[in-house]
Amino acid sequence: MAPTFASMELSQDTKNILGLHLPTDPRWVNLAEKSLGEILTDHAYCEQKAATSCISLIQRYSDREKLVAELAPVVTEEWGHFRLVLAELQKRDLKLGKQRKDEYVNALLDFQVKGGSPEDNLLDRLLTMAMIEARSCERFKRLSERLEDEYLRSFYRRFMESEAGHYTLFIELAETYIDKEKVRKRWKEWLDHEAEIMEHLVVRGDRIH
Ligand SMILES: [Fe+2]
Ligand SMILES: [Fe+2]
Repeated sequence: MAPTFASMELSQDTKNILGLHLPTDPRWVNLAEKSLGEILTDHAYCEQKAATSCISLIQRYSDREKLVAELAPVVTEEWGHFRLVLAELQKRDLKLGKQRKDEYVNALLDFQVKGGSPEDNLLDRLLTMAMIEARSCERFKRLSERLEDEYLRSFYRRFMESEAGHYTLFIELAETYIDKEKVRKRWKEWLDHEAEIMEHLVVRGDRIH
């Protein structure tokens, strides 16, 4: 079973595993709180993209039994997340609206190896997913700790726990098919690069990332 952040106090191990170099700017939660409708819409699309990306991985790597078996239920889970966020929007008489430009994810995609070997491509696809899950988990943790509204704090805590499990799953899948040392080395490069992206990204309250 994938580990989850069952407690608000993350163990040192979990923090190390998550490994993000830059914590989220503390101002972000305050900004997000002021534009909750925008945050919910952006969040809904994050969940939709997570489900869609898992389906793409299953289609592309249909010969990898473990990947197919492990990601099939994640599609259901991510789609369930989408529906939960959609229900929150509806509860507030808000509309889903159009998908926003996702500068964070676009910057991550630019870092994926171009024209590499099939193994390198698989590795980067899985690590991109792991990266987005890890940062989303960290953002949901901030919301679960600092939002004023108690209901929303627990709402986001559930997402935090779930995305932590997904983060570890994608790393595990990478280690299933690719040499562990190679996975570790490339993951370090992803972490360094992600920190650079975060440093240059404008902090805005209408985006999850
Ligand atoms: Fe999710
Ligand atoms: Fe996820």
